[in-house]
This record gives sequence, structure tokens and C-alpha cells, in this order.
Amino acid sequence: MRSMPRPPKWLLAARTGNAPPGDWLSRALSRAGVLRPDEALAAIDAGRVKVGGKVTTKPFTPVTAQTEVTVDGQPVRLETVTRVLVLNKPKGVVSAAKDDQKVGTVFDVLDAALPEPLRGYGWHAVGRLDRDTTGLLLFTNDERFVAHATSPDRHLPKRYVAQVYGEVTKEKLATLARGMTLDDGPTRPAKAEARGAGAVVLTLVEGRHHQAKRMLGAVGLSAHALHREAIGSLVLDVPERGLRELSQEEIAAALRFDPVARQSLPEAR
Ligand code: URA
Repeated sequence: MRSMPRPPKWLLAARTGNAPPGDWLSRALSRAGVLRPDEALAAIDAGRVKVGGKVTTKPFTPVTAQTEVTVDGQPVRLETVTRVLVLNKPKGVVSAAKDDQKVGTVFDVLDAALPEPLRGYGWHAVGRLDRDTTGLLLFTNDERFVAHATSPDRHLPKRYVAQVYGEVTKEKLATLARGMTLDDGPTRPAKAEARGAGAVVLTLVEGRHHQAKRMLGAVGLSAHALHREAIGSLVLDVPERGLRELSQEEIAAALRFDPVARQSLPEAR
């Protein structure tokens, strides 16, 4: 797969502050679902893409939703509709694009489940789940949604169910709920409840590395299985390896995302 070149400085500068909404050509094509990121780069490189009637071979050509763009002579729309998919992650696959461990990734699971009309997008995983964690993982075509859903300042709750070794007591639940200091700093207050004898439901607003397991471990509850069952008020409702696209109402209400209020795009990594 081709890797994305670094954007030029002028483009990064233009994207900070209150720059008008716009994008660069290759990213706009995959955000709008016209071509996947590697296909977009290849098409631009091959001279198949015209901007304002002229062939461009520069992936960072600035564009807006109104720019006249064709691919292989066909006009394409660059308007971005924020799309969000919910996937039920199985155990054993990693939440990374690269498969260094050769165990399979969440993108392999996504690819196997993606219906044809959604294949033209560049999909981003929204946060990560550990290899042995199962459950609700979101994907989106819109980096602004990733920033929204993973920011601790947005307070979007993530609800986990942990099967634990050790006795679940009121004191331990109270400690989890108050928040605690882990080796990377204090945690925000959480919600912690028992579910039956050997399970804890932990609702966090942060997404730090192994956070649920580390918090549980700190009170003497070692998690032997972890499942994410909800984000915001969205509750996982697809079977393992299953996928569904959320409606615009769900994105706004259950995940509290307002695309109009979040115009500026994060820079390319
Ligand atoms: N907390 C963890 O410990 N693991 C996860 O996968 C998610 C949250």
C-alpha cells in the first residue's frame, strides 16, 4: 500500500485557526467515498483526476466541496457526509492498521463486513481496543469525528463489562468511581457497578492505554475478559464481526457529534 506523503507547510498553516473548510484532493476523495486513500493517490499519480478541468498529479491540491473534480472524466462530489460504522470486534485481532503480530487487524474484520457502497471510503478506527477486548468499535470517514469521540474533554462515556477474579465489594466500586492515580496520572471519576458476582460494569470518559484493566487491577480485581458494550447512549446491537452504519440522528444524539460546529480538520499525521 502507498503511504501518504507529508503535506506541505503552506497547507498545514492554512488548516490552522479559522481557515475556511477545505481539504486536499486525495483526502477529500476518500472522505467523500469516491476512492480509498491508496486508490486516490494512484489515480492522481496516473493523471486520471482533473481539478477545474485540468489534470493534476499533486495529491495536496487544495479543494473545497464546490471544486469541480472529475475522475476518469466523470464528475465527482466532494461533499463530506460524516459516516460512522459500528463493528463488534472479536477477540484476538489488533486495533492497528499494520499487522506486526500477524494475528489480523480490526481493518481485516471491517473489510470482510463492508458492503460495496461503503468500500470507496478511507476508514479510521475511533480509538482502540486491546487485542483480547471484544465489543463496540466505531469507524468513520471523518477525522473530526475521531477527535470528538476520543477527546476526554467531550466526556463521551464508554461502558465496559469486565469479568474479574477477586471479590467485588462496595469499597472497591467506590474507589473505582472516585478515580485513582495510575502510573500515568490521576483518572477522572468513573461509574462502577457490580453485575452479578464476578463482573464489574465500568463507565469511563477517558481512553488511556489499558485503562479499565489497570483501574480494576489497582483495586485487586484482575480482568480476565473485557467487553465494550456502549459508547455515549449507543448500545452495541450487532453480532460478533457484524457491522452496521449509524443514522445521522444516532451520530448526533447518541454520540453527540455536531458536524457543523466542528469545521476544522486535524492535520495529517
Ligand atoms: N481498557 C482496557 O483496559 N482495555 C481496552 O481494550 C479498553 C479499555
